[in-house]
Amino acid sequence: MASISLRNVVKKYGAATVIPDLNLEIEDEEFIVLVGPSGCGKSTLLRVLAGLEAIDGGDLMIGDRRVNDVPAAKRDIAMVFQDYALYPHMTVRQNMAFALEMRDLPASEINAKIDAAAKLLDIHPYLDRRPKALSGGQRQRVAMGRAIVRDPQVFLFDEPLSNLDAKLRGQVRAEIKTLSRQLRTTMVFVTHDQIEAMTMADRIVVMKSGVIQQVGTPEEVYEAPINLFVASFIGSPSMNFLPITLEGEQLRLAGGDSLPLDSGLSTGVSGPDLILGVRPEHFEVVPEGQGIPAEIMLVEPLGSDTLIHVRAAEQDLIARVSPDLRPVAGGSVFLRPIAGKAHLFDSATEMRLIGKNGK
Ligand SMILES: Nc1ncnc2c1ncn2[C@@H]1O[C@H](COP(=O)(O)OP(=O)(O)O)[C@@H](O)[C@H]1O
Ligand SMILES: [Mg+2]
Repeated sequence: MASISLRNVVKKYGAATVIPDLNLEIEDEEFIVLVGPSGCGKSTLLRVLAGLEAIDGGDLMIGDRRVNDVPAAKRDIAMVFQDYALYPHMTVRQNMAFALEMRDLPASEINAKIDAAAKLLDIHPYLDRRPKALSGGQRQRVAMGRAIVRDPQVFLFDEPLSNLDAKLRGQVRAEIKTLSRQLRTTMVFVTHDQIEAMTMADRIVVMKSGVIQQVGTPEEVYEAPINLFVASFIGSPSMNFLPITLEGEQLRLAGGDSLPLDSGLSTGVSGPDLILGVRPEHFEVVPEGQGIPAEIMLVEPLGSDTLIHVRAAEQDLIARVSPDLRPVAGGSVFLRPIAGKAHLFDSATEMRLIGKNGK
């Protein structure tokens, strides 16, 4: 168990600066999910934490200890990789025992730790198999077991679910979350998948090009994304963006349609160069005259609800509607943002404009 503190951390590869100046405080026992598009520096940051990469500036603290110059083996951190990195010539038991044998623990203690981890992860039946005789999900569990027996201060996970099929991914996601509650160890989990981030994290760290965009609980980043990047990255399908001009109490949309300004958007600003952000689930279908006319281009029934791809206010938008509406391609509906759910951004700075109610 330990807190982690990154202060003005810089990481370069040759002339390329991958992390220009990063600050982050992770609390003891916290489950942090680092999320961002491929290439934004997530793995680099994990490798920095693990001590597999040296930093070019700043300070890295684990607990009270400054670990800038502490080698990986002495950091008391366990890392689970995307490809699991199990030793192919060793059985599951030997894979799990390896790091403990290196520490010269007595055999009885090693076996007790393996038994406990195997019970936790439900991998007892495979202890004598080699990795090649295991399914992807089983290997993933063994990789976690190997990390757990080390009883580290911090767990690092680098996209450990990306090689699993969708159903298994959902299952293991829930297992890791449950595990984190049981182990009460600080965890940093990297993913490019915003659903994993939303479902697992105590706090999400959204990164872009080595720069943290926002740190917050899943609710915070969903309900109050700080800029257009976070707004479009978190949530699926992505938030819709409409260029607007604010004229008094009216939102003027491209093409001439307008909507009344709802109280949640009273930001004190007016004029052009604003962007209205509306999540697909925050459109409501309203009678003619009360919303913007939308031509239905494509219908995607999901069972529980239906996505309609529409053309409205000169934009391609997606709305999540009730299947009972029985929408059909070629038809039309009238859409309006649900009061208090829309977002307003400055198109020049791409930053969210804060409303009167602080949202
Ligand atoms: N060993 C390396 N040498 C040079 N550049 C690297 C190295 N590792 C990663 N990079 C670069 O650093 C950037 C971030 O990579 P990475 O941390 O792997 O991103 P992510 O895990 O978010 O997909 C990428 O542009 C990548 O090409
Ligand atoms: Mg990566």
